[in-house]
Amino acid sequence: MLKDLVVKSRSYRGYDESRRITEQELLELVDCARFAPYSVNGQPFCYLLLHEKEDTDRLQPLTGWAKALPGMKLPHPGKCPTAFIVICQNTEWDSNLSRYLRDVGAVAQTMLLAATEMGLGGIMIGNFSPAKVSEAMKLPDTIVPMLIVAFGKPDEKIVLTEVSSGESIKYYRDDQDVHYVPKRKLEDIVIRANAEKYDK
Ligand SMILES: Cc1cc2nc3c(=O)[nH]c(=O)nc-3n(C[C@H](O)[C@H](O)[C@H](O)COP(=O)(O)O)c2cc1C
Repeated sequence: MLKDLVVKSRSYRGYDESRRITEQELLELVDCARFAPYSVNGQPFCYLLLHEKEDTDRLQPLTGWAKALPGMKLPHPGKCPTAFIVICQNTEWDSNLSRYLRDVGAVAQTMLLAATEMGLGGIMIGNFSPAKVSEAMKLPDTIVPMLIVAFGKPDEKIVLTEVSSGESIKYYRDDQDVHYVPKRKLEDIVIRANAEKYDK
């Protein structure tokens, strides 16, 4: 069921480094992203694939993880992702970098769901400097990094919890390194049209 896949597809920050991801697997993910929706069907993205260790080692230090846990350096040593896809915009196809900011999320989530179905996992990383990534990866000026997605075989426990409105939605870890992600309840996020009609 799609919902099971969506629930299983969490943002993982710990991976089994012995399970390298292949280029073929990354190509399958991009082949799914290719069919995502795009505003005015613009399709301005291209995808930098990194799966060799020397390449992932070069990108890893340029990515920021778990800003909400400032005392913790994640991933823990030896638990880094084994592949990255850098979603880039080709400005020769469309130079407007703000036009497709929503589309980037649809593309990234499509790849994460596909990875989950393949028994893998990942995380979107927005905390990076496009200029530094471009320089490190020797990208031409026309190819602009928009969002990074890390992939690997998840090697950590994540627990979803439900919070009532007014409670904290900050993610946290316990002393066993279990990662908890509070989600708002269905009843707290739905706005019904004509609500006053149903309240009677
Ligand atoms: C657009 C976007 C950018 C994100 N960037 C980062 C990031 O730079 N570093 C990080 O550790 N997590 C990042 N995340 C992951 C979120 O922290 C994560 O989605 C959130 O904590 C909820 O956890 P869940 O995805 O398991 O539900 C990002 C998520 C999204 C949607």
